[in-house]
Amino acid sequence: MFEHIKAIPPDPILGLIAAYAADPDPKKIDLGIGVYRDEHGNTPILDCVVEAEKIHLATQTTKTYLGPPGVAGFNQAMGELLLGKDSQAISEGRVRTVQTPGGTGALRVAADLMRVARPEAELWASDPTWANHLALFPGAGMKMHSYPYFDADSSSLRFDDMIQALEQRGRGDAVLFHACCHNPCGVSPDPEQWQTIAELASGRGFTPVVDIAYMGFERGIEEDCLSVRLFAEKCPEVIIASSCSKNFAMYRERVGAITVITRDTERAAAAESVIHNVTRKNYSMPPAHGPAVIDIILHSDELKAQWQSELAEMRDRINGLRKTLAEKIAAAGIRRDFSFIERQTGMFSFMGLSVQQVQRLREEFAIYTVNSARVNVASFNQSNMDYFIEALGVVLEE
Ligand code: LMR
Repeated sequence: MFEHIKAIPPDPILGLIAAYAADPDPKKIDLGIGVYRDEHGNTPILDCVVEAEKIHLATQTTKTYLGPPGVAGFNQAMGELLLGKDSQAISEGRVRTVQTPGGTGALRVAADLMRVARPEAELWASDPTWANHLALFPGAGMKMHSYPYFDADSSSLRFDDMIQALEQRGRGDAVLFHACCHNPCGVSPDPEQWQTIAELASGRGFTPVVDIAYMGFERGIEEDCLSVRLFAEKCPEVIIASSCSKNFAMYRERVGAITVITRDTERAAAAESVIHNVTRKNYSMPPAHGPAVIDIILHSDELKAQWQSELAEMRDRINGLRKTLAEKIAAAGIRRDFSFIERQTGMFSFMGLSVQQVQRLREEFAIYTVNSARVNVASFNQSNMDYFIEALGVVLEE
């Protein structure tokens, strides 16, 4: 069986976890994987999650199988969170939400669903996009293409080029969008631009596939769902892959959901049956703990308010770090303009460094970023920011 097996290099993002852990340097900084960190470098469990876990432990009565749909209350609450309580698509019975193991699980189920519904469908993703999109969709057998998105010179959105490219797409094509906090470049369309994109999707008839992994980290929960809601309002079909890893800080519990909107209830029921079928053939059914806890939070006014405030605290801290970092880099006399860091949102920004400069940061300063020079801004704190800026100055000097 394994006579000819060849090792595969570690994942560009996950591989950094092990490399960082093995580094004995006390000054080391992990700017790699997208997890929120507090001022002390920890990723704490949210208080609302601790409370809900207590309730769950005290009230659960069985560990018997859940079945492919998972926790019904979680599915219902996630659908409403994404689309809004007054969503017309929900009231028309055209929406189905099914929990998945994380947002990545949702994306894989989305890919499997599209492969069943329309085997020849191809997917267009922003250039750049999350590295794992490039592995996941082709891994599920989907052909992938890119559309222009990020202008590295100005660190901003290539909106006109993007629109021009999307004007070529039509019925049967799938187009992937990051709802907020674009991973990896931190640049999102503004509300007016989302309006234009949604109108284009509706006019051209392509199917928007929205990855919403950072809901609440850009401007707020409602605001970050804008694209999802515009697509839901204007397009007959939308696929949404959502993650609770970051906004509930439940990373390792693997909580996510796939939400599908179809043109009528009959097709929604059919899509749901396909989701259950592809799930059964893959991991059989999703795990219960994380969604059960989130079900409790989203159905308690008190815990929900607490969650919203804890999420706002994380968002505000990242925005504060962005401002301080941009100001400190400028004050350090580094000649390159990094003011874009403050204009961007979410956990990530591209620092515009070469692979050699990224390697120097790692080898000479024990500062870990992915090779694209994407940094996780949430990893900065009062004690490591100056060291990072000093190292940045050195690698940029050469
Ligand atoms: C990231 O991009 O760092 C996160 O989405 C975590 C991951 O799984 O890659």
